[in-house]
Amino acid sequence: MPASPKTAPNLNKLLQQKNIRALIFDLDGVVTQTAKLHAAAWKKMFDEFLQNGIENGPKSQPPFSIQTDYPRYLDGISRLDGIRNFLLARNLELPPGQPEDTFEKRSVWGLANYKNELYQQLLQTQGVAIYPDTITWIKQKRAENFRTAIISASKNCLQVLQAAQIENLFDVRIDGNISQERNLKSKPEPDIFLEAARELNISPTNCAVFEDARAGVQAGKAGNFGLVVGVNRKDASEAKALLESGGGLVITQFPGSQ
Ligand code: BG6
Ligand code: MG
Repeated sequence: MPASPKTAPNLNKLLQQKNIRALIFDLDGVVTQTAKLHAAAWKKMFDEFLQNGIENGPKSQPPFSIQTDYPRYLDGISRLDGIRNFLLARNLELPPGQPEDTFEKRSVWGLANYKNELYQQLLQTQGVAIYPDTITWIKQKRAENFRTAIISASKNCLQVLQAAQIENLFDVRIDGNISQERNLKSKPEPDIFLEAARELNISPTNCAVFEDARAGVQAGKAGNFGLVVGVNRKDASEAKALLESGGGLVITQFPGSQ
């Protein structure tokens, strides 16, 4: 069943029924429209790599697909883990390399650094757009005394929040840098959400998780959160994938904005 905007008004009721006191939001694709920029940067980097960079492994490779490769292997996942996932899926192997490697080194770090350069360029040229429905709803819920956290696999999380001037909408932030410092495992493991709940000092069963990535919905489910909401900004087939990943419900917009 495609996610219908009709599901959104149920959300406020569900929070009450399930005794939810805190809301944990993923950043890219739920709060800001930056998942599209990540996907575009990944495509440019991997297509250059697939065309010119393969030394070992099957040489004839289809280009990177934003529709299929991005949600399966990269969405919601840390930069290095995402690259490893994609290479494995294409039967390709690269040495890990060093944190300062450039693209020409053809290492996991080299690819990661080039992708981040491309993502940074997109942030500069296109800017950070928010999802107005999410922001309006967060403000409403904060006024109703819900506590809020932002989580992200991204090391660029704080920069994106600052660019959109929304960092003060969240009591807690657990991002890619903090995950690295604290050794938190990448989604689909629940670590990042559990850490946010811990810092909010609210049991996961009283927290709702909002995620656009399949790996993120799986993480919410694995962490036994009170409510796991798939936020589908794509097409109906993605709604199905989010439900199959463990989403308790899927919405296309937050309530109050239809
Ligand atoms: C996630 C995105 O939020 O963060 C991924 O969905 C991205 O596409 C990941 O790769 C890591 O982000 P960054 O900015 O640290 O490379
Ligand atoms: Mg996301």
